[in-house]
Amino acid sequence: MRGIVTLDGPSASGKSSVAKRVAEVLGVPYLSSGLLYRAAALLALRAGVDPKDEAGLLRLLEARRVRLVPGRENRVLADGEDLTPFLHTLEVDRVVSEVARHPGVRAWVNERLKEVPPPFVAEGRDMGTAVFPEAPHKFYLTASPEVRARRRAKERPSDYEAVLRDLLVRDERDKAQSAPAPDALVLDTSGMTLDEVVAWVLAHLKD
Ligand code: DC
Repeated sequence: MRGIVTLDGPSASGKSSVAKRVAEVLGVPYLSSGLLYRAAALLALRAGVDPKDEAGLLRLLEARRVRLVPGRENRVLADGEDLTPFLHTLEVDRVVSEVARHPGVRAWVNERLKEVPPPFVAEGRDMGTAVFPEAPHKFYLTASPEVRARRRAKERPSDYEAVLRDLLVRDERDKAQSAPAPDALVLDTSGMTLDEVVAWVLAHLKD
């Protein structure tokens, strides 16, 4: 496979598990753009920068050498420190959408992603629209909020109702950058297993 595969969709739509497996089958790295937004949120929390303060966030991000290290798993390094183990906490979950809504932060993430040479599978919200509009293979995975909340609650032992509430809040906040590309293939994965979704994506690659 040559070029770029993009996999976009809302939180807990299964896109990162699918991206990992598809990339493995194709023998290319996968890129998690959400991890870079999470890294920006973590750095802001640690430095006490208000997630609403775009100029403060950009000053902070420019002062740190942040790198996405793609591969079978992704890691994010900041000045050589591995931030990856700290990126999936509730604290980060709660502020990441706020951080991700600033155009300057989005430009910063997109620059980090474009430093990676293709081929790869990139997953996120706007990979097929804003970041890699020229990608030849674009997919948009979705699932009902209830199915996504159930999946997320299974991943991290937590209360289903609370997970569903958080997820709906994040959907609303992320809405602006979460529309499918006009040329993306859209799949509702609600009734599907991971294997079925992976097989569907592989079957719909253009070459
Ligand atoms: O995919 P995820 O849940 O790890 O993403 C974390 C947050 O980052 C999510 O709230 C939305 C934001 N995000 C984004 O705005 N654009 C992307 N391409 C990827 C993630």
